[in-house]
Amino acid sequence: MSLWGGRFSGSMDPDAWILNASILFDQRMARQDVTGSQAWAQQLQAIGVLNVEEYAAIHQGLEQIQSEFSQKTFVFQPGDEDIHSAVERRMYEIIGATAGKLHTGRSRNDQVATDFRLWLLDQIPEILKTIGQFQAQLITRAEMDMDLVMPAYTHLQRAQPVLLSHWWLSFFWALERDRQRLVFAQQECAVLPLGSGAVAGTSFPIDREALAAQLGFAKISRNSMDAVSDRDFAVQFVFDAVLCGVHLSRLAEQVVLFTSAEFGFFVLDDAFATGSSLMPQKKNSDVFELTRGKAGTMLGLLTGLLATLKGLPSTYDKDLQEDKQAVFQAFDILMAVLPVLTKAIATLRVNPARMAAAIDPSVYATDVADLLVKVGIPFRETHGLVGQAVRVAAGQAKGIQELSVEEWQAIIPGVTIDWQAVFSPQASIATRSVVGGTAPAAVLEQINTARRCLLV
Ligand code: ARG
Repeated sequence: MSLWGGRFSGSMDPDAWILNASILFDQRMARQDVTGSQAWAQQLQAIGVLNVEEYAAIHQGLEQIQSEFSQKTFVFQPGDEDIHSAVERRMYEIIGATAGKLHTGRSRNDQVATDFRLWLLDQIPEILKTIGQFQAQLITRAEMDMDLVMPAYTHLQRAQPVLLSHWWLSFFWALERDRQRLVFAQQECAVLPLGSGAVAGTSFPIDREALAAQLGFAKISRNSMDAVSDRDFAVQFVFDAVLCGVHLSRLAEQVVLFTSAEFGFFVLDDAFATGSSLMPQKKNSDVFELTRGKAGTMLGLLTGLLATLKGLPSTYDKDLQEDKQAVFQAFDILMAVLPVLTKAIATLRVNPARMAAAIDPSVYATDVADLLVKVGIPFRETHGLVGQAVRVAAGQAKGIQELSVEEWQAIIPGVTIDWQAVFSPQASIATRSVVGGTAPAAVLEQINTARRCLLV
């Protein structure tokens, strides 16, 4: 059953019909479509468009359809163009001609925007929960790995020693920002477009505030032309999902590196590793590589959605039908990746010896410079002096920890320091007790703060 056949004398080309139809993907909004229609029917009754019997019939028909959806007994027909027409077609089958009154004053343009927002409002809490579970796992790892020290890298060059826990938690905060962004995205979704009609606003005196309250929207849109074409909420969601994907990808990239023989910091559990069809010795980190790969796919979705929007003339254009694919796919990717990553992180084994061995004493150069500051030498000078020490040591093919007291004296005359005490990861880490630093007490405090974030 077509919703718009009246002015046509011929039927649509079958291939064009397939191109035009969105039922294959927008049926995910089935529940929201019925919910929106229930509220709309109630408002139509309130203004007398539906009498009591008509409203009761429509209400019951919609309830039946809703239960067919939830029991998966709803049968889509080849003529169902999209979820809105499928529901309307089924209404006719169940209640007959009264079904024709439900679409009074409404267009699929404001309907689809409403359904789409409702769908996101239903699903974002799922994502928030799943991100939260991953964050909780990061905290657990941080607690487990409090005794382990690794080199932190800048420019992928060994920089300074840090607790492995500090490294795990660095991703916690990135994901916490992702969660906050998604909370904001929820607010952006919570604006009701229904009542905007096709473009100019409905001509029936619908109480839009009541409609919004009934459907759980916090606000109503203020311009019908904007409301039927506004997809900022969808862009916002996809952006938030992509950025979360980018954060996961950066973590994944390092796990790939750290499980390589060259680093050897981590060992993958068999449950989250894959083999090679040709090379018997291989143990590959496909789960992490795919996490990295899917971030690229998600980025494509965001770019595609923005490209769809950029040249659109005002209000609804059919291009907008593409929006669902971007949102649904971004959602599906994150929901596929996050739970696997949560488990993969939990089972990752650390090789403390390889990590410790990677802390070559060059990473204490900053500590030495800082120590000299404490005996009164300006930092810019101490930086230069320690640089000289590194050069002298390198000239003898050794590390700065191997320079003798005399060699230090030659570089920094008159300063006596217990050099050897400086060259330990624990000593270095202990000095960084500032809030946000890697000293054990600061990291424990960080864990407490992180735990509190997850409570809200
Ligand atoms: N399936 C359409 C979509 O997803 C519904 C809106 C159709 N509106 C229209 N004027 N043809 O965007």
